[in-house]
Amino acid sequence: RFGSWKIERDSRFKKVDDKDTARFESILDSRNNPSSVLYQKTENLSAYNTDWLRKYKGEAPVVLKPKQTQEVSALLEYCNANNIAVCVQGGNTGLVGGSVPVFDEVIINLSRMNNILSFDEQSGILQCEAGVILENADKYLREKYTFIYPLDLGAKGSCQIGGNISTNAGGLRLLRYFVYFFHSLVSSLPPFLVFLSPLWFFFFFFLKSINHKYKRYGNLHGNVMGLEVVLANGNVLNLQSNNIKDNTGYDLKHLFIGSEGTLGVITKASVLCMKEPTSYNLLFLALPSFANALKVKLLAKRVLNEIISAIEFADFQSLKFPLTYLHNRCSFPLEGKYTDYPFYMLIETSGSNDTHDKEKLTQLIETLFNEKLISAGTIAQDMGQFRSIWTLREGIGPGIGESKRACYKYDVSLPLYQMYDVVENCRVRVEEMLGHDTIKRGEIDVVGYGHLGDGNLHLNVVTPTFASKYENVLEPWIYDQCSYYRGSISAEHGLGRMKGNMIHYNKSALAVNLMKNFKQLLDPKGILNPYKLKVSYPKNMLWH
Ligand code: FAD
Ligand code: MLT
Ligand code: ZN
Repeated sequence: RFGSWKIERDSRFKKVDDKDTARFESILDSRNNPSSVLYQKTENLSAYNTDWLRKYKGEAPVVLKPKQTQEVSALLEYCNANNIAVCVQGGNTGLVGGSVPVFDEVIINLSRMNNILSFDEQSGILQCEAGVILENADKYLREKYTFIYPLDLGAKGSCQIGGNISTNAGGLRLLRYFVYFFHSLVSSLPPFLVFLSPLWFFFFFFLKSINHKYKRYGNLHGNVMGLEVVLANGNVLNLQSNNIKDNTGYDLKHLFIGSEGTLGVITKASVLCMKEPTSYNLLFLALPSFANALKVKLLAKRVLNEIISAIEFADFQSLKFPLTYLHNRCSFPLEGKYTDYPFYMLIETSGSNDTHDKEKLTQLIETLFNEKLISAGTIAQDMGQFRSIWTLREGIGPGIGESKRACYKYDVSLPLYQMYDVVENCRVRVEEMLGHDTIKRGEIDVVGYGHLGDGNLHLNVVTPTFASKYENVLEPWIYDQCSYYRGSISAEHGLGRMKGNMIHYNKSALAVNLMKNFKQLLDPKGILNPYKLKVSYPKNMLWH
Protein backbone atom coordinates (compact mmCIF):
# COMPACT_ATOMS: atom_id res chain seq x y z
CA ARG A 1 0.00 0.00 0.00
CA PHE A 2 1.32 3.42 -0.89
CA GLY A 3 0.39 6.59 0.85
CA SER A 4 2.13 8.31 3.70
CA TRP A 5 -1.07 7.80 5.64
CA LYS A 6 -0.91 4.32 7.12
CA ILE A 7 -4.34 2.95 7.88
CA GLU A 8 -5.39 -0.09 9.89
CA ARG A 9 -8.61 -1.95 9.19
CA ASP A 10 -11.24 -0.92 11.72
CA SER A 11 -12.16 -4.09 13.59
CA ARG A 12 -15.63 -2.75 14.41
CA PHE A 13 -16.65 -3.48 10.83
CA LYS A 14 -18.00 -6.93 10.14
CA LYS A 15 -16.62 -9.16 7.40
CA VAL A 16 -19.37 -10.03 4.95
CA ASP A 17 -20.64 -13.63 5.29
CA ASP A 18 -23.17 -15.85 3.49
CA LYS A 19 -26.08 -14.54 5.56
CA ASP A 20 -25.25 -10.98 4.45
CA THR A 21 -24.90 -11.88 0.79
CA ALA A 22 -28.21 -13.75 0.90
CA ARG A 23 -29.84 -10.56 2.19
CA PHE A 24 -28.14 -8.45 -0.53
CA GLU A 25 -29.39 -10.88 -3.18
CA SER A 26 -32.88 -10.70 -1.85
CA ILE A 27 -32.93 -6.87 -1.71
CA LEU A 28 -31.63 -6.57 -5.28
CA ASP A 29 -33.67 -9.53 -6.55
CA SER A 30 -30.51 -10.92 -8.09
CA ARG A 31 -32.27 -14.01 -9.40
CA ASN A 32 -34.05 -11.76 -11.92
CA ASN A 33 -31.17 -9.22 -12.17
CA PRO A 34 -28.02 -11.33 -12.37
CA SER A 35 -25.66 -8.36 -12.75
CA SER A 36 -26.89 -6.67 -9.57
CA VAL A 37 -24.65 -8.61 -7.17
CA LEU A 38 -21.09 -9.46 -8.23
CA TYR A 39 -18.71 -11.60 -6.17
CA GLN A 40 -14.93 -11.64 -5.97
CA LYS A 41 -15.23 -15.45 -5.68
CA THR A 42 -16.77 -15.83 -9.11
CA GLU A 43 -15.90 -12.69 -11.09
CA ASN A 44 -12.89 -10.50 -11.57
CA LEU A 45 -13.73 -7.42 -9.52
CA SER A 46 -10.42 -5.66 -10.11
CA ALA A 47 -12.01 -2.92 -12.25
CA TYR A 48 -14.18 -1.99 -9.24
CA ASN A 49 -11.40 -2.43 -6.70
CA THR A 50 -8.75 -0.40 -8.55
CA ASP A 51 -8.85 3.36 -9.02
CA TRP A 52 -8.36 5.23 -12.33
CA LEU A 53 -4.71 6.00 -11.57
CA ARG A 54 -4.00 2.34 -10.64
CA LYS A 55 -2.60 3.68 -7.37
CA TYR A 56 -5.09 2.27 -4.87
CA LYS A 57 -6.44 -1.25 -4.67
CA GLY A 58 -9.22 -2.44 -2.41
CA GLU A 59 -10.49 -5.91 -1.61
CA ALA A 60 -14.27 -5.62 -1.78
CA PRO A 61 -15.67 -9.15 -1.77
CA VAL A 62 -18.92 -7.97 -3.30
CA VAL A 63 -20.23 -5.21 -5.59
CA LEU A 64 -23.87 -4.21 -5.24
CA LYS A 65 -25.65 -2.48 -8.10
CA PRO A 66 -29.05 -1.15 -7.04
CA LYS A 67 -31.56 0.03 -9.63
CA GLN A 68 -33.77 2.18 -7.40
CA THR A 69 -33.61 4.42 -4.36
CA GLN A 70 -35.61 1.91 -2.27
CA GLU A 71 -32.92 -0.70 -2.92
CA VAL A 72 -30.13 1.69 -1.84
CA SER A 73 -32.18 2.43 1.25
CA ALA A 74 -32.68 -1.25 2.12
CA LEU A 75 -28.97 -2.02 1.53
CA LEU A 76 -27.81 0.80 3.77
CA GLU A 77 -30.34 0.01 6.47
CA TYR A 78 -29.00 -3.55 6.55
CA CYS A 79 -25.30 -2.55 6.43
CA ASN A 80 -25.80 0.01 9.17
CA ALA A 81 -27.62 -2.45 11.43
CA ASN A 82 -24.86 -5.02 10.88
CA ASN A 83 -21.80 -2.73 10.97
CA ILE A 84 -20.84 -3.42 7.37
CA ALA A 85 -18.64 -0.72 5.87
CA VAL A 86 -19.60 0.65 2.46
CA CYS A 87 -17.67 2.26 -0.37
CA VAL A 88 -19.86 4.41 -2.63
CA GLN A 89 -18.86 4.27 -6.28
CA GLY A 90 -19.91 6.20 -9.38
CA GLY A 91 -17.90 6.04 -12.61
CA ASN A 92 -14.66 5.35 -10.68
CA THR A 93 -12.81 8.20 -12.37
CA GLY A 94 -11.92 9.99 -9.12
CA LEU A 95 -8.26 10.93 -8.76
CA VAL A 96 -7.79 10.72 -4.98
CA GLY A 97 -8.67 7.09 -4.33
CA GLY A 98 -12.11 7.91 -2.85
CA SER A 99 -14.09 5.59 -5.10
CA VAL A 100 -12.42 2.28 -4.24
CA PRO A 101 -12.43 0.42 -0.93
CA VAL A 102 -9.40 0.59 1.31
CA PHE A 103 -10.00 -2.88 2.80
CA ASP A 104 -13.06 -5.10 2.38
CA GLU A 105 -15.85 -2.50 2.33
CA VAL A 106 -18.73 -3.59 0.11
CA ILE A 107 -19.09 -1.43 -3.00
CA ILE A 108 -22.43 0.21 -3.77
CA ASN A 109 -22.06 1.10 -7.42
CA LEU A 110 -24.62 3.50 -8.93
CA SER A 111 -24.21 2.61 -12.60
CA ARG A 112 -27.64 0.96 -12.95
CA MET A 113 -29.41 4.07 -11.65
CA ASN A 114 -29.00 5.81 -14.98
CA ASN A 115 -32.39 7.25 -15.93
CA ILE A 116 -33.02 10.81 -16.96
CA LEU A 117 -36.31 11.64 -15.25
CA SER A 118 -37.43 14.98 -16.64
CA PHE A 119 -36.33 18.26 -18.15
CA ASP A 120 -38.23 21.53 -17.79
CA GLU A 121 -37.32 23.89 -20.61
CA GLN A 122 -38.77 26.89 -18.79
CA SER A 123 -36.68 26.57 -15.65
CA GLY A 124 -33.80 24.70 -17.31
CA ILE A 125 -33.89 22.10 -14.54
CA LEU A 126 -32.89 18.52 -15.37
CA GLN A 127 -33.90 15.78 -12.95
CA CYS A 128 -31.99 12.55 -13.20
CA GLU A 129 -30.72 9.56 -11.28
CA ALA A 130 -27.22 9.79 -9.88
CA GLY A 131 -25.72 7.11 -12.13
CA VAL A 132 -26.37 9.02 -15.37
CA ILE A 133 -23.07 9.49 -17.20
CA LEU A 134 -22.19 13.16 -17.64
CA GLU A 135 -21.78 12.92 -21.42
CA ASN A 136 -25.18 11.21 -21.78
CA ALA A 137 -26.91 14.00 -19.84
CA ASP A 138 -25.20 16.62 -22.00
CA LYS A 139 -26.02 14.78 -25.23
CA TYR A 140 -29.67 14.39 -24.24
CA LEU A 141 -29.94 18.12 -23.49
CA ARG A 142 -28.17 19.21 -26.68
CA GLU A 143 -30.04 16.90 -29.03
CA LYS A 144 -33.51 17.26 -27.59
CA TYR A 145 -33.57 20.81 -26.26
CA THR A 146 -30.44 22.69 -27.46
CA PHE A 147 -29.49 23.05 -23.80
CA ILE A 148 -26.18 22.00 -22.23
CA TYR A 149 -25.16 20.47 -18.93
CA PRO A 150 -23.29 23.03 -16.75
CA LEU A 151 -20.15 20.89 -16.25
CA ASP A 152 -17.58 19.55 -18.68
CA LEU A 153 -14.49 17.52 -17.91
CA GLY A 154 -12.12 15.06 -19.53
CA ALA A 155 -13.74 12.09 -17.79
CA LYS A 156 -17.21 12.96 -19.16
CA GLY A 157 -17.57 9.64 -20.98
CA SER A 158 -17.38 7.64 -17.72
CA CYS A 159 -18.02 9.87 -14.70
CA GLN A 160 -21.51 10.13 -13.26
CA ILE A 161 -23.66 13.05 -12.19
CA GLY A 162 -23.68 11.71 -8.60
CA GLY A 163 -19.88 11.31 -8.58
CA ASN A 164 -19.43 14.84 -9.90
CA ILE A 165 -21.70 16.25 -7.22
CA SER A 166 -20.03 14.21 -4.47
CA THR A 167 -16.62 15.56 -5.49
CA ASN A 168 -17.96 19.03 -6.40
CA ALA A 169 -16.02 18.59 -9.64
CA GLY A 170 -14.77 21.82 -11.20
CA GLY A 171 -13.90 21.02 -14.79
CA LEU A 172 -12.97 23.06 -17.78
CA ARG A 173 -15.56 25.80 -17.87
CA LEU A 174 -16.12 26.69 -14.24
CA LEU A 175 -15.15 30.28 -14.75
CA ARG A 176 -18.09 31.09 -16.96
CA TYR A 177 -20.56 33.10 -14.95
CA PHE A 178 -24.17 34.03 -15.08
CA VAL A 179 -26.44 36.86 -14.13
CA TYR A 180 -29.13 34.91 -12.39
CA PHE A 181 -31.51 37.82 -12.10
CA PHE A 182 -31.84 38.26 -15.85
CA HIS A 183 -32.27 34.58 -16.53
CA SER A 184 -35.06 34.12 -14.05
CA LEU A 185 -36.76 37.30 -15.12
CA VAL A 186 -36.76 36.40 -18.79
CA SER A 187 -37.93 32.87 -18.09
CA SER A 188 -40.74 33.99 -15.86
CA LEU A 189 -41.91 36.96 -17.94
CA PRO A 190 -45.53 36.38 -19.01
CA PRO A 191 -45.34 36.48 -22.83
CA PHE A 192 -48.49 38.62 -23.25
CA LEU A 193 -46.84 41.48 -21.29
CA VAL A 194 -44.34 41.76 -24.08
CA PHE A 195 -47.00 42.98 -26.43
CA LEU A 196 -48.79 45.38 -24.08
CA SER A 197 -46.49 48.31 -24.58
CA PRO A 198 -43.50 49.19 -26.73
CA LEU A 199 -41.52 49.63 -23.52
CA TRP A 200 -42.12 46.01 -22.47
CA PHE A 201 -41.26 44.91 -25.96
CA PHE A 202 -37.92 46.70 -25.74
CA PHE A 203 -37.30 45.48 -22.21
CA PHE A 204 -38.01 41.87 -23.17
CA PHE A 205 -35.52 41.84 -26.02
CA PHE A 206 -32.94 43.71 -23.97
CA LEU A 207 -33.18 41.06 -21.28
CA LYS A 208 -33.19 38.28 -23.83
CA SER A 209 -29.99 39.58 -25.42
CA ILE A 210 -28.28 39.79 -22.04
CA ASN A 211 -29.57 36.37 -21.18
CA HIS A 212 -27.78 35.00 -24.22
CA LYS A 213 -24.52 36.49 -23.09
CA TYR A 214 -24.53 35.35 -19.48
CA LYS A 215 -24.81 31.66 -18.98
CA ARG A 216 -23.94 30.06 -15.70
CA TYR A 217 -21.41 27.26 -15.71
CA GLY A 218 -19.53 27.77 -12.47
CA ASN A 219 -19.37 25.66 -9.37
CA LEU A 220 -21.89 22.85 -8.74
CA HIS A 221 -22.96 24.57 -5.52
CA GLY A 222 -24.61 27.12 -7.79
CA ASN A 223 -26.10 24.68 -10.31
CA VAL A 224 -27.44 21.86 -8.17
CA MET A 225 -30.99 22.84 -7.26
CA GLY A 226 -31.91 19.70 -5.34
CA LEU A 227 -30.84 16.21 -4.32
CA GLU A 228 -32.26 12.95 -3.10
CA VAL A 229 -29.87 11.33 -0.63
CA VAL A 230 -30.04 8.03 1.21
CA LEU A 231 -28.55 8.37 4.67
CA ALA A 232 -26.42 5.73 6.38
CA ASN A 233 -29.42 4.31 8.30
CA GLY A 234 -31.43 3.95 5.08
CA ASN A 235 -33.60 7.04 5.53
CA VAL A 236 -34.37 8.74 2.23
CA LEU A 237 -33.82 12.48 2.50
CA ASN A 238 -35.78 14.21 -0.24
CA LEU A 239 -34.18 17.56 -1.04
CA GLN A 240 -35.31 17.52 -4.68
CA SER A 241 -36.55 20.77 -6.12
CA ASN A 242 -38.16 22.10 -9.26
CA ASN A 243 -37.47 25.65 -8.20
CA ILE A 244 -34.55 27.91 -8.92
CA LYS A 245 -35.31 29.87 -5.75
CA ASP A 246 -36.16 28.27 -2.43
CA ASN A 247 -35.25 30.02 0.81
CA THR A 248 -36.96 27.74 3.29
CA GLY A 249 -34.59 26.93 6.09
CA TYR A 250 -31.02 25.65 5.93
CA ASP A 251 -29.97 24.59 2.46
CA LEU A 252 -28.97 21.05 3.40
CA LYS A 253 -28.10 19.90 -0.11
CA HIS A 254 -24.83 21.86 0.09
CA LEU A 255 -23.61 19.54 2.85
CA PHE A 256 -23.63 16.65 0.39
CA ILE A 257 -21.99 18.52 -2.51
CA GLY A 258 -18.31 17.71 -2.18
CA SER A 259 -18.79 15.31 0.76
CA GLU A 260 -17.17 12.45 -1.20
CA GLY A 261 -19.67 9.78 -0.22
CA THR A 262 -19.07 10.17 3.52
CA LEU A 263 -22.46 11.60 4.50
CA GLY A 264 -24.94 9.75 2.29
CA VAL A 265 -25.52 8.18 -1.10
CA ILE A 266 -26.84 10.63 -3.67
CA THR A 267 -29.52 8.89 -5.69
CA LYS A 268 -31.15 11.73 -7.64
CA ALA A 269 -30.27 15.28 -8.59
CA SER A 270 -31.98 18.38 -9.99
CA VAL A 271 -29.48 20.42 -11.97
CA LEU A 272 -29.91 23.82 -13.56
CA CYS A 273 -28.81 23.64 -17.20
CA MET A 274 -28.42 26.39 -19.76
CA LYS A 275 -29.20 27.15 -23.37
CA GLU A 276 -26.53 25.96 -25.76
CA PRO A 277 -24.37 28.83 -27.03
CA THR A 278 -24.66 29.23 -30.81
CA SER A 279 -21.10 30.43 -31.31
CA TYR A 280 -17.98 28.70 -29.98
CA ASN A 281 -14.44 29.86 -30.63
CA LEU A 282 -11.08 28.73 -29.36
CA LEU A 283 -7.73 30.46 -29.24
CA PHE A 284 -4.53 28.43 -28.94
CA LEU A 285 -1.48 30.46 -27.88
CA ALA A 286 2.23 29.78 -27.38
CA LEU A 287 4.01 31.96 -24.81
CA PRO A 288 7.59 32.62 -23.77
CA SER A 289 6.87 32.68 -20.01
CA PHE A 290 4.28 32.04 -17.33
CA ALA A 291 4.38 35.73 -16.40
CA ASN A 292 3.12 36.46 -19.91
CA ALA A 293 0.32 33.93 -19.45
CA LEU A 294 -0.92 35.98 -16.50
CA LYS A 295 -0.81 39.18 -18.54
CA VAL A 296 -2.68 37.46 -21.39
CA LYS A 297 -5.30 36.26 -18.95
CA LEU A 298 -5.95 39.80 -17.70
CA LEU A 299 -6.10 41.22 -21.20
CA ALA A 300 -8.39 38.43 -22.40
CA LYS A 301 -10.77 39.13 -19.54
CA ARG A 302 -10.84 42.80 -20.47
CA VAL A 303 -11.36 42.31 -24.21
CA LEU A 304 -13.55 39.20 -24.24
CA ASN A 305 -15.29 39.73 -20.92
CA GLU A 306 -18.63 37.93 -20.75
CA ILE A 307 -18.03 35.57 -23.68
CA ILE A 308 -15.03 33.82 -22.08
CA SER A 309 -15.91 30.29 -21.04
CA ALA A 310 -12.48 28.76 -20.34
CA ILE A 311 -8.88 29.83 -19.75
CA GLU A 312 -6.50 26.91 -19.52
CA PHE A 313 -2.72 26.61 -19.53
CA ALA A 314 -0.14 23.86 -19.99
CA ASP A 315 3.64 23.71 -20.11
CA PHE A 316 5.30 21.87 -22.99
CA GLN A 317 6.25 19.00 -20.67
CA SER A 318 2.51 18.32 -20.24
CA LEU A 319 1.70 18.35 -23.94
CA LYS A 320 4.28 15.65 -24.60
CA PHE A 321 1.86 13.08 -23.16
CA PRO A 322 -1.25 13.54 -25.33
CA LEU A 323 0.92 14.18 -28.41
CA THR A 324 2.85 10.96 -27.84
CA TYR A 325 0.16 8.67 -26.52
CA LEU A 326 -3.10 10.03 -28.03
CA HIS A 327 -1.64 11.30 -31.30
CA ASN A 328 -4.43 9.78 -33.38
CA ARG A 329 -6.95 11.99 -31.55
CA CYS A 330 -5.14 15.33 -31.35
CA SER A 331 -2.34 17.21 -33.08
CA PHE A 332 -0.22 20.24 -32.39
CA PRO A 333 -1.96 23.19 -34.11
CA LEU A 334 1.02 25.57 -34.56
CA GLU A 335 4.03 25.65 -36.87
CA GLY A 336 7.14 24.03 -35.42
CA LYS A 337 7.62 21.62 -32.54
CA TYR A 338 5.64 21.82 -29.30
CA THR A 339 8.93 22.01 -27.41
CA ASP A 340 9.73 25.31 -29.14
CA TYR A 341 7.73 27.25 -26.56
CA PRO A 342 7.61 26.75 -22.79
CA PHE A 343 3.91 27.57 -22.23
CA TYR A 344 0.58 27.24 -23.97
CA MET A 345 -2.88 28.65 -23.35
CA LEU A 346 -6.39 27.85 -24.53
CA ILE A 347 -9.00 30.56 -24.38
CA GLU A 348 -12.53 29.55 -25.28
CA THR A 349 -15.44 31.87 -25.93
CA SER A 350 -19.08 30.94 -26.21
CA GLY A 351 -21.73 33.40 -27.17
CA SER A 352 -24.61 34.00 -29.52
CA ASN A 353 -23.09 36.16 -32.24
CA ASP A 354 -20.22 34.56 -34.10
CA THR A 355 -19.22 37.66 -36.06
CA HIS A 356 -19.08 39.72 -32.88
CA ASP A 357 -17.13 37.02 -31.00
CA LYS A 358 -14.62 36.55 -33.85
CA GLU A 359 -14.07 40.32 -34.09
CA LYS A 360 -13.23 40.42 -30.40
CA LEU A 361 -10.88 37.46 -30.70
CA THR A 362 -9.10 38.96 -33.69
CA GLN A 363 -8.71 42.21 -31.77
CA LEU A 364 -7.29 40.31 -28.82
CA ILE A 365 -4.82 38.27 -30.84
CA GLU A 366 -3.57 41.41 -32.62
CA THR A 367 -2.99 43.16 -29.31
CA LEU A 368 -1.19 40.10 -27.93
CA PHE A 369 1.18 40.05 -30.91
CA ASN A 370 1.69 43.83 -30.84
CA GLU A 371 2.53 43.79 -27.15
CA LYS A 372 4.83 40.78 -27.72
CA LEU A 373 3.01 38.75 -25.10
CA ILE A 374 2.75 35.66 -27.27
CA SER A 375 5.15 33.87 -29.59
CA ALA A 376 2.49 32.25 -31.78
CA GLY A 377 -1.27 31.85 -31.84
CA THR A 378 -4.19 30.57 -33.84
CA ILE A 379 -7.98 30.57 -33.75
CA ALA A 380 -9.50 27.12 -34.35
CA GLN A 381 -10.63 27.15 -37.97
CA ASP A 382 -13.45 24.64 -37.70
CA MET A 383 -15.11 22.30 -35.22
CA GLY A 384 -12.61 19.55 -36.12
CA GLN A 385 -9.68 21.72 -35.05
CA PHE A 386 -11.67 23.01 -32.06
CA ARG A 387 -12.14 19.45 -30.81
CA SER A 388 -8.56 18.43 -31.58
CA ILE A 389 -7.19 21.34 -29.52
CA TRP A 390 -9.50 20.53 -26.63
CA THR A 391 -8.41 16.87 -26.82
CA LEU A 392 -4.83 18.06 -26.49
CA ARG A 393 -5.69 19.78 -23.21
CA GLU A 394 -8.18 17.22 -21.86
CA GLY A 395 -5.81 14.46 -22.96
CA ILE A 396 -2.94 15.42 -20.64
CA GLY A 397 -4.25 13.23 -17.79
CA PRO A 398 -5.32 10.32 -20.05
CA GLY A 399 -2.03 10.66 -22.03
CA ILE A 400 -0.05 10.25 -18.82
CA GLY A 401 -2.27 7.26 -18.01
CA GLU A 402 -1.51 5.72 -21.42
CA SER A 403 2.24 6.05 -20.79
CA LYS A 404 1.80 3.21 -18.27
CA ARG A 405 3.99 5.03 -15.76
CA ALA A 406 2.92 6.08 -12.28
CA CYS A 407 1.55 9.56 -11.67
CA TYR A 408 1.56 11.52 -8.42
CA LYS A 409 -1.21 14.02 -8.98
CA TYR A 410 -1.38 17.24 -7.00
CA ASP A 411 -4.43 19.37 -7.61
CA VAL A 412 -3.91 22.66 -5.82
CA SER A 413 -5.17 26.23 -5.65
CA LEU A 414 -2.44 28.85 -5.50
CA PRO A 415 -2.14 32.59 -5.90
CA LEU A 416 -1.53 33.06 -9.62
CA TYR A 417 1.73 34.94 -9.23
CA GLN A 418 3.30 32.00 -7.38
CA MET A 419 1.54 29.21 -9.20
CA TYR A 420 4.30 28.13 -11.56
CA ASP A 421 7.03 28.71 -8.95
CA VAL A 422 5.75 25.60 -7.22
CA VAL A 423 6.28 23.53 -10.38
CA GLU A 424 9.80 24.86 -10.74
CA ASN A 425 10.55 24.38 -7.05
CA CYS A 426 9.33 20.82 -7.41
CA ARG A 427 11.73 20.17 -10.32
CA VAL A 428 14.60 21.51 -8.24
CA ARG A 429 13.60 19.34 -5.30
CA VAL A 430 13.26 16.20 -7.43
CA GLU A 431 16.73 16.77 -8.93
CA GLU A 432 18.27 17.48 -5.54
CA MET A 433 16.71 14.52 -3.79
CA LEU A 434 16.59 11.93 -6.55
CA GLY A 435 19.61 12.68 -8.69
CA HIS A 436 20.68 15.56 -10.87
CA ASP A 437 19.78 14.09 -14.22
CA THR A 438 16.57 12.27 -13.28
CA ILE A 439 14.46 14.74 -15.22
CA LYS A 440 16.88 15.14 -18.11
CA ARG A 441 17.13 11.39 -18.57
CA GLY A 442 13.34 11.20 -18.67
CA GLU A 443 13.05 8.98 -15.61
CA ILE A 444 10.81 11.55 -13.96
CA ASP A 445 8.62 14.21 -15.55
CA VAL A 446 7.33 17.14 -13.54
CA VAL A 447 4.53 18.78 -15.49
CA GLY A 448 2.23 21.72 -14.78
CA TYR A 449 -1.14 22.51 -16.36
CA GLY A 450 -4.57 23.50 -15.23
CA HIS A 451 -7.43 25.89 -14.98
CA LEU A 452 -5.69 29.25 -15.04
CA GLY A 453 -9.01 31.06 -14.90
CA ASP A 454 -9.70 29.48 -11.49
CA GLY A 455 -6.19 29.61 -9.99
CA ASN A 456 -6.08 25.80 -10.10
CA LEU A 457 -2.77 24.10 -10.87
CA HIS A 458 -2.40 20.41 -11.72
CA LEU A 459 1.14 19.49 -10.76
CA ASN A 460 1.80 15.95 -11.93
CA VAL A 461 4.96 14.05 -11.16
CA VAL A 462 5.32 11.07 -13.48
CA THR A 463 7.59 8.33 -12.15
CA PRO A 464 8.46 4.79 -13.27
CA THR A 465 6.38 3.22 -10.46
CA PHE A 466 4.56 4.16 -7.27
CA ALA A 467 7.23 3.89 -4.60
CA SER A 468 7.85 5.50 -1.24
CA LYS A 469 11.22 6.85 -2.40
CA TYR A 470 9.32 9.19 -4.77
CA GLU A 471 6.39 9.87 -2.51
CA ASN A 472 8.55 10.85 0.46
CA VAL A 473 10.23 13.51 -1.66
CA LEU A 474 6.90 14.98 -2.74
CA GLU A 475 4.74 14.69 0.35
CA PRO A 476 4.17 16.56 2.59
CA TRP A 477 6.55 19.00 0.83
CA ILE A 478 3.93 19.98 -1.77
CA TYR A 479 1.24 20.50 0.86
CA ASP A 480 3.65 22.66 2.85
CA GLN A 481 4.26 24.74 -0.27
CA CYS A 482 0.48 25.25 -0.59
CA SER A 483 0.34 26.26 3.03
CA TYR A 484 3.24 28.63 2.62
CA TYR A 485 1.52 30.38 -0.29
CA ARG A 486 -1.89 30.19 1.44
CA GLY A 487 -3.37 27.99 -1.25
CA SER A 488 -5.54 24.87 -1.03
CA ILE A 489 -4.23 21.29 -1.09
CA SER A 490 -7.33 20.24 -3.03
CA ALA A 491 -8.77 22.61 -5.59
CA GLU A 492 -11.23 20.24 -7.25
CA HIS A 493 -10.46 16.51 -6.88
CA GLY A 494 -11.25 16.24 -3.17
CA LEU A 495 -9.36 14.65 -0.27
CA GLY A 496 -10.41 11.01 -0.65
CA ARG A 497 -7.89 8.37 0.42
CA MET A 498 -4.85 10.28 -0.78
CA LYS A 499 -5.29 13.38 1.38
CA GLY A 500 -7.87 11.98 3.79
CA ASN A 501 -5.91 12.98 6.89
CA MET A 502 -4.92 16.45 5.72
CA ILE A 503 -7.98 18.58 6.13
CA HIS A 504 -6.09 20.64 8.76
CA TYR A 505 -4.04 22.22 5.98
CA ASN A 506 -7.06 24.24 4.94
CA LYS A 507 -9.67 24.16 7.67
CA SER A 508 -9.55 25.37 11.26
CA ALA A 509 -10.05 23.08 14.25
CA LEU A 510 -13.42 24.69 14.90
CA ALA A 511 -14.59 24.07 11.33
CA VAL A 512 -13.36 20.46 11.41
CA ASN A 513 -15.09 19.90 14.72
CA LEU A 514 -18.39 21.10 13.27
CA MET A 515 -17.90 18.76 10.32
CA LYS A 516 -17.25 15.92 12.76
CA ASN A 517 -20.58 16.66 14.43
CA PHE A 518 -22.38 16.51 11.10
CA LYS A 519 -20.69 13.20 10.29
CA GLN A 520 -21.67 11.83 13.71
CA LEU A 521 -25.27 12.95 13.20
CA LEU A 522 -25.68 11.52 9.70
CA ASP A 523 -23.49 8.42 9.94
CA PRO A 524 -22.98 7.62 13.66
CA LYS A 525 -21.41 4.23 12.98
CA GLY A 526 -19.08 5.66 10.33
CA ILE A 527 -19.98 3.00 7.73
CA LEU A 528 -19.89 5.37 4.72
CA ASN A 529 -16.51 5.57 2.99
CA PRO A 530 -14.49 4.99 6.14
CA TYR A 531 -10.76 5.83 6.07
CA LYS A 532 -11.31 8.73 3.63
CA LEU A 533 -11.89 12.46 4.13
CA LYS A 534 -11.32 12.15 7.86
CA VAL A 535 -12.82 15.06 9.72
CA SER A 536 -10.31 15.03 12.53
CA TYR A 537 -7.41 17.16 13.61
CA PRO A 538 -3.93 15.91 14.45
CA LYS A 539 -3.67 16.02 18.25
CA ASN A 540 -0.51 18.11 18.25
CA MET A 541 -2.20 20.80 16.16
CA LEU A 542 -5.17 21.68 18.28
CA TRP A 543 -3.88 25.17 18.84
CA HIS A 544 -4.92 26.06 15.28
P1 FAD B 1 -16.18 8.21 -8.50
O1 FAD B 1 -14.79 8.32 -8.96
O2 FAD B 1 -16.81 6.89 -8.62
O3 FAD B 1 -16.29 8.70 -6.99
C1 FAD B 1 -15.69 9.89 -6.56
C2 FAD B 1 -16.10 10.15 -5.11
O4 FAD B 1 -17.49 10.42 -5.02
C3 FAD B 1 -15.86 8.96 -4.18
O5 FAD B 1 -15.51 9.45 -2.92
C4 FAD B 1 -17.20 8.26 -4.13
O6 FAD B 1 -17.37 7.55 -2.94
C5 FAD B 1 -18.17 9.41 -4.24
N1 FAD B 1 -19.42 9.10 -4.94
C6 FAD B 1 -19.56 8.69 -6.23
N2 FAD B 1 -20.86 8.59 -6.54
C7 FAD B 1 -21.55 8.93 -5.42
C8 FAD B 1 -22.94 9.03 -5.09
N3 FAD B 1 -23.89 8.76 -6.00
N4 FAD B 1 -23.28 9.40 -3.85
C9 FAD B 1 -22.34 9.70 -2.92
N5 FAD B 1 -21.02 9.63 -3.17
C10 FAD B 1 -20.63 9.25 -4.40
N6 FAD B 1 -12.31 16.55 -11.63
C11 FAD B 1 -12.52 17.86 -11.67
O7 FAD B 1 -12.96 18.42 -10.67
N7 FAD B 1 -12.24 18.60 -12.79
C12 FAD B 1 -11.76 18.05 -13.91
O8 FAD B 1 -11.49 18.73 -14.89
C13 FAD B 1 -11.54 16.64 -13.91
N8 FAD B 1 -11.10 16.03 -15.01
C14 FAD B 1 -10.85 14.70 -14.98
C15 FAD B 1 -10.36 14.11 -16.12
C16 FAD B 1 -10.06 12.76 -16.14
C17 FAD B 1 -9.52 12.12 -17.38
C18 FAD B 1 -10.30 11.97 -14.97
C19 FAD B 1 -10.01 10.51 -14.96
C20 FAD B 1 -10.81 12.56 -13.83
C21 FAD B 1 -11.09 13.93 -13.80
N9 FAD B 1 -11.59 14.57 -12.68
C22 FAD B 1 -11.82 15.92 -12.72
C23 FAD B 1 -11.80 13.85 -11.38
C24 FAD B 1 -13.25 13.88 -10.94
O9 FAD B 1 -13.37 13.81 -9.55
C25 FAD B 1 -14.09 12.80 -11.52
O10 FAD B 1 -13.90 12.64 -12.87
C26 FAD B 1 -15.61 12.88 -11.25
O11 FAD B 1 -16.16 13.99 -10.65
C27 FAD B 1 -15.90 11.70 -10.40
O12 FAD B 1 -17.09 11.13 -10.82
P2 FAD B 1 -17.28 9.55 -10.76
O13 FAD B 1 -18.70 9.26 -11.10
O14 FAD B 1 -16.29 8.85 -11.56
O15 FAD B 1 -17.08 9.29 -9.21
C1 MLT C 1 -7.89 18.14 -15.66
O1 MLT C 1 -8.07 19.33 -15.46
O2 MLT C 1 -7.45 17.69 -16.73
C2 MLT C 1 -8.35 17.18 -14.60
O3 MLT C 1 -8.59 17.75 -13.38
C3 MLT C 1 -7.65 15.88 -14.54
C4 MLT C 1 -6.20 15.96 -14.23
O4 MLT C 1 -5.82 16.58 -13.25
O5 MLT C 1 -5.42 15.38 -14.96
ZN1 ZN D 1 -8.78 19.87 -13.56
